[in-house]
Amino acid sequence: RLTEDEILADPVAKISAVGGARHSSIPLPVDLFRAADGHRNSMGIDLAERNVLAKTTHAVRAPVNLSVEAVSTQAVNDAVPRAHAAFPAWRATPVEARADCLDRLADLLERHRDELMAICVQEAKKSIADSIGEVREAADFCRYYAMQARAKMQPIELPGPTGERNMLHLDGRGVWATIAPWNFPLAIFLGQTVAALVTGNTVVAKPAPQTPAIARRAVELAHEAGVPADALILVPGGPEVGAALTADTRVQGVAFTGSTATAKKIARSLLADNERPIVPLIAETGGINAMIVDSTALPEQVVADVVTSAFRSAGQRCSALRLLLVQEDIADGLIEMLSGAMDLLTLGDPSDPASDVGPVIDQDAYDRLMAYRDSARARWVKTIDAPAGGLFVPPTLIRLGSIEELNREWFGPILHVATWKAGELEQTIARVNAKGYGLTMGLHSRIARAAEVTEELAEVGNLYINRSMIGAVVGSQPFGGEGLSGTGPKAGGPHYLYRFCAERAVSVDT
Ligand code: NAD
Ligand code: ALA
Repeated sequence: RLTEDEILADPVAKISAVGGARHSSIPLPVDLFRAADGHRNSMGIDLAERNVLAKTTHAVRAPVNLSVEAVSTQAVNDAVPRAHAAFPAWRATPVEARADCLDRLADLLERHRDELMAICVQEAKKSIADSIGEVREAADFCRYYAMQARAKMQPIELPGPTGERNMLHLDGRGVWATIAPWNFPLAIFLGQTVAALVTGNTVVAKPAPQTPAIARRAVELAHEAGVPADALILVPGGPEVGAALTADTRVQGVAFTGSTATAKKIARSLLADNERPIVPLIAETGGINAMIVDSTALPEQVVADVVTSAFRSAGQRCSALRLLLVQEDIADGLIEMLSGAMDLLTLGDPSDPASDVGPVIDQDAYDRLMAYRDSARARWVKTIDAPAGGLFVPPTLIRLGSIEELNREWFGPILHVATWKAGELEQTIARVNAKGYGLTMGLHSRIARAAEVTEELAEVGNLYINRSMIGAVVGSQPFGGEGLSGTGPKAGGPHYLYRFCAERAVSVDT
């Protein structure tokens, strides 16, 4: 670990190095209950890291322009033909030049880091630590996809046993619509957009209606980095703008991240017009993510990883833990420790470095989560106090009678707990699989066979063993789910760019 002096010498850059994680995941200690003596709290953020966050407080509170007007659906009708007209020239731009734009964009994101963090905190209500992670992940996506494009977009010469010269080319397909959620308003918004651009597509990009300002700044920086104005057009707005975009038959591909329900609507809209070409849909959606804990697990580590996975970012990560499944022999003790750790969480303003859990995104989300939480009052195992006013949903642990009782994603700091019997690991995994989602799963066990079984049986895109379930690192932990959780492509992985490409085989009789 770095010393406090080393971290403070270069606060934001060094925080990513602590524990080896390159972006948002602040590593957690095994010795969770050092929190009790005030050095470390239950999110595992120690005093040195708090000081790092404190150093950025003034920056994230600086005034920023958050006002962005939503466009009309007519603006979508204007944007798509402009992007369509820009496609041939952008497609013909050498991949090196397109990749250079992404590298320059990464540099610009870092140069404007404080401003971008301020927008993240003020518009998306992200904590300071999460905002650091957001900018870093966005820059990582740019650099990673630039590197991948340079390596993978070159023509390949294939064998010519019949005497022909056979070449395989990867190219852009045309105009892509990219549609983003509010919870990673910079990293996901830009990640899917730059993947489409670097592969030679032009893009009409729609951010979430809750977070247009960070998207506007990202697009301005992309243009400054050299992406032509008509190769990337922003259309801020809500579902109606997104629906107009996906309904436009000139759109040749859709990269969407958001809820399962919206992904299904988009899939239907792409098939609505019988004359329309069949176009690819990349959908990254939600999950009912479970962590399975057996009696050999290290309780302190489990508790630390549960708190991070379920409550960091106020539970507003698609990867977040929703369903904790504890072997019944250790359930009472573990739940008691977890309740103790929850008592150490501080709810508060996201620009305050002392806050572990901030508000949820908007009034609708608050009302929905609070109504559900209230309806489950009889089954609360633990909850904590929230400050009055503001959209603070108190982290809450709800006991379930069975795994089957949880059937939808609750996108906030609400965790469910159920038990399973010794010897029933396989059945427990099968019961989680049966929900049909497949985003993240966690396992805490010191038995090698348990890890093998889980690896074999878990139907998820990302399996995390003996660690937290959030904070996938670009290039190391490609991220994306299956089943109701998405169409499968892994953002930040080596195969992602292929999904945006048309492949053309050219055979020339020599
Ligand atoms: P959402 O589905 O409500 O909205 C996502 C985007 O889709 C927004 O830009 C929205 O305006 C747009 N949209 C809504 N209706 C549309 C329609 N009919 N046609 C086209 N576009 C439409 O999701 P959200 O509330 O913004 O985000 C939270 C959800 O995203 C959660 O379910 C979470 O699990 C999921 N998510 C998944 C990932 C992942 O990588 N798998 C990452 C982040 C968030
Ligand atoms: N990539 C984000 C995470 O892993 C969703 O938490």
